[in-house]
Amino acid sequence: MKITIIGSGVVGQTLAAAFHSQGHQVWMATRNPDETAKRTVEDPQSGESFAHWHAENPGVTLVSFGQVPDGSEVLVNATGGMVSLDALDQIGADKIGSKVLLDVANPLDFSQGFPPTLAYCNTDSLGERIQQRFPGARVVKALNTVNFRVMVQPDIVPGAHNLFMCGDDPGAKEVVLGLLASLGWPRGRVLDLGGIGAARGTEMLMPLWLGLMVQMGSPIMNFEIRRP
Ligand SMILES: NC(=O)c1ccc[n+]([C@@H]2O[C@H](COP(=O)([O-])OP(=O)(O)OC[C@H]3O[C@@H](n4cnc5c(N)ncnc54)[C@H](OP(=O)(O)O)[C@@H]3O)[C@@H](O)[C@H]2O)c1
Repeated sequence: MKITIIGSGVVGQTLAAAFHSQGHQVWMATRNPDETAKRTVEDPQSGESFAHWHAENPGVTLVSFGQVPDGSEVLVNATGGMVSLDALDQIGADKIGSKVLLDVANPLDFSQGFPPTLAYCNTDSLGERIQQRFPGARVVKALNTVNFRVMVQPDIVPGAHNLFMCGDDPGAKEVVLGLLASLGWPRGRVLDLGGIGAARGTEMLMPLWLGLMVQMGSPIMNFEIRRP
């Protein structure tokens, strides 16, 4: 497939590398590709700089937001949740069109320090805002409740732990289920919560997730839902 990852952070890097290694054609959108390519500062989460990552993944093509290929079949929103709508605006509604838009972002506001607050919650969510801003897009929310390493290596956490998925378009969910399966998340471990309104719940897991990370001293964990 032709996949454009919007975002150059650790999540974007991780998903881009994983999809490219599976034979997909992958682009990564960033505000200024030349500047991004030169970044030598190590990311505290990955311990790796963008320049180093890109040297190891030269097959991922860097583009500006305005250069996102029209032919992209799937867009992945891996930008900071506070700036996602701005980033998507720069790509533009015409280009976003009716593409599948996998939203992995969380609307975390770190402006007052740690722990962050949720910029949109209770009766609102980032997933819904993206769907409202781009009504033609087929938005699917998933992967936002696991650390970037767990996204592509679920087995580093033992057990049959789960992912949550929601969105209004059944066909788009099928596309996302296929991509998730290729990352190591079989269909049976992905819980479909219904329409995009369920993004409220998955985004509001963030305070709990962050609290667990602090108490456990590691982001390598996940939720497992058990049923009789
Ligand atoms: N870290 C995790 O393990 C994890 C797990 C689950 C979900 N998430 C979510 O995934 C998303 C990405 O996380 P991350 O840690 O990889 O990256 P991040 O640091 O949250 O976001 C980086 C991206 O945001 C873009 N950006 C920053 N300011 C912008 C602006 N004013 N306008 C447009 N774009 C702007 C950056 O653009 P440039 O490329 O131009 O710098 C970059 O591509 C977040 O929403 C996060 O909550 C993270």
